[in-house]
Amino acid sequence: MICEADWISADTGDAATEFRKEFTISGIIKRAYMSVTAIGVYEAMINGRRVGDFILAPGCTAYNKRLQYQTYDVTELLSDENVLSVTVGKGWHRSRMSENRPEINKKPCALIAELSVEYENGRNEIIRTDTGWSVRRSRTVFNDIWDGETYDASVKGAEPVPAAVVDLDKGMLIPQEGEIIREQDIFLAKRLIVTPKGERVLDFGQNLTGYIELDLNAEAGDTVELSCAEILDSDGNFYNDNYRSAKSKMKYICCAGRNTWKPRFTFYGFRYIRLDRAPEHITIDNFRAVAVYSDMERTGYIRTSDERLNRLFDNALWSQRDNFLDIPTDCPQRDERMGWTGDAQVFAKTACYNYNAKKFFEKWLGDVRAEQRENGSVPDTAPNFWKIERSSTAWGDAIAVIPWRLYEMFGDKHSLEANFDAMKGWVDFMTNDSLDKYLWTCPDDSHKMWRKHYGDWLALDAPSGSYRGITSDNFIASAFYAYSTDLLVKAGEALDKDMTEYRALYKNIVSKFRKTFVEYNTQTECVLALYFGLTDKPKQTASKLNKMIIENGIRLKTGFVGTPYLLYALSVNGYADTAYRLLMQDKYPSWLYEVDHGATTIWEHWDGVKEDGSFWSSDMNSYNHYSYGAVMDWVYSFAAGIRPGEPGFKTVIIAPVPSKLINWLEADYYSVNGKIVSKWTNVENGVKYEIETPVPAKIVIDGKERDLPPGKYTIWGGLAE
Ligand code: BGC
Repeated sequence: MICEADWISADTGDAATEFRKEFTISGIIKRAYMSVTAIGVYEAMINGRRVGDFILAPGCTAYNKRLQYQTYDVTELLSDENVLSVTVGKGWHRSRMSENRPEINKKPCALIAELSVEYENGRNEIIRTDTGWSVRRSRTVFNDIWDGETYDASVKGAEPVPAAVVDLDKGMLIPQEGEIIREQDIFLAKRLIVTPKGERVLDFGQNLTGYIELDLNAEAGDTVELSCAEILDSDGNFYNDNYRSAKSKMKYICCAGRNTWKPRFTFYGFRYIRLDRAPEHITIDNFRAVAVYSDMERTGYIRTSDERLNRLFDNALWSQRDNFLDIPTDCPQRDERMGWTGDAQVFAKTACYNYNAKKFFEKWLGDVRAEQRENGSVPDTAPNFWKIERSSTAWGDAIAVIPWRLYEMFGDKHSLEANFDAMKGWVDFMTNDSLDKYLWTCPDDSHKMWRKHYGDWLALDAPSGSYRGITSDNFIASAFYAYSTDLLVKAGEALDKDMTEYRALYKNIVSKFRKTFVEYNTQTECVLALYFGLTDKPKQTASKLNKMIIENGIRLKTGFVGTPYLLYALSVNGYADTAYRLLMQDKYPSWLYEVDHGATTIWEHWDGVKEDGSFWSSDMNSYNHYSYGAVMDWVYSFAAGIRPGEPGFKTVIIAPVPSKLINWLEADYYSVNGKIVSKWTNVENGVKYEIETPVPAKIVIDGKERDLPPGKYTIWGGLAE
């Protein structure tokens, strides 16, 4: 039991702390396990070999309530004489990012570990952290998640001193729940650019999350200092003002001879690396970029005849990888990297098609629940490192939407069971917080005080200088109140609970909504009313939405709230052609506009790069924000038409909708019940459909439904629209 070990600690300031224990093994080992965690992030080595391959262990959680420990099989690493060393950096726990939470951030650097050895003769030996361990300042002389890492290989190792036992809580220790973070992809630099300003910049060709690995021969004291950027400016110069206060630096001071190094206690979001300082002889071959992300199984693939669309889907995939680093973050580069609930809520379904993200989300939902307040309100980020006091519509709804998405996609009721009370708490909070019964309304000025909602965040109908689209907070909040209540009812029904009261509540919300919001004046209002089934005149609403889009030159105006459902709202109501034209639009604002401007990940703003080449203001301009990548969900479930018939794809609906704007489109989805394929190709006089299903399927083509058993089918249909 790890809890029987002591927390040991030392204060080494900005440097990572190296804890060390030497011990002898006497006998033949049957097996040996080590459980370990830290206040910070740790890297453990036994006899110079790394224990496990979890990067940034123990991961990111709501630390005051949940701190994961990991258990590794270390049988193969042990010998007769052993050195166990564990280096602990600040991590999310003690870096600048959590300064608003002193009860987390001001905890001392600490380690707890237990190594248990079972001998062939049945004897057991246990080594635990205690005063018998030594500790010293490591050569990682600086580390911080936002600011980066410095390693000094030129200095002699510090003198070890005995570790101190500290009285820290152990009640929050939990076994590993999430996926582990691993090194996943290696990128070699594509080119070394000398910019107009004369700076040397490496281009890795892909905006990624990870770090640089150095390998060079050097003199003692030679220094390599690197800065990160996602983009070059219109003159081709290095630009990272959008990282705001995050310094994101890598610094390495060499020893004589061969030097290999990579940061171990932080991560960076970058495509470009500026060589701020480097020995003269350094070349492009001395650097590799390593992409790290949570280790989920890839389950979804989309390919089309259109290369730009393919790039768009790759961009969404990369933004998922780059932001699925134990928690779903908004962005991996600037001084945020927070688990923003709204972003995760809108992207969750896409995420679950692309990858089996069940375990990843279930662990993070544990953090959301841990941060949920007594009154049921859900903070805007989990973990709530910034101590945000408010709770916004469409953000807090993550607690209702994501468990339902997991149930739909994976068919396991565990997500519903674990989150049911939290979903209920959220719905009750909205009920209690509202000025008007059966709506979620708040005082007109509440947004000014940043007390509540973010509105249709970053929508293009925002008044100049504002980030918030003009769709009213009360409209969005009441629409999501209805949606989350509906999902709560469905979850309760799936769990065989009596939902009479909430069913009635849902009916009342819908009817009050219809009486209150009679006209829909923005694209997002139409989208929400259609997608959430709130309008009693869907035909009229869809026609209005279609008209708004066409009158705007087939352009959207929607932000974080409206965009994810925009193409659905059009296509399921008879306007698939407009939906496809929006998807294929390449004039600003559009998904392909970003692709045409060289994006390798999804941008936060539609106009992250403006038509004249200038940038959106640096105060909020990430080039790696997955939210608008939610369009992929529409491609899987509408364009290719793969949707669960029953939760977890026990049966499947395959209702592809072709378009004449693309020659062919194929989606392969490895559901928990097997591989599903849907491909359509425009051919002379019609469309050829190639479908593969491992489970009974309802196949809908040209409005005709066919119930078919598992198998492979080729079906011919009429011309695409
Ligand atoms: C984040 C967003 C987040 C938003 C809340 C931003 O700073 O980057 O993605 O959802 O704040 O409005």
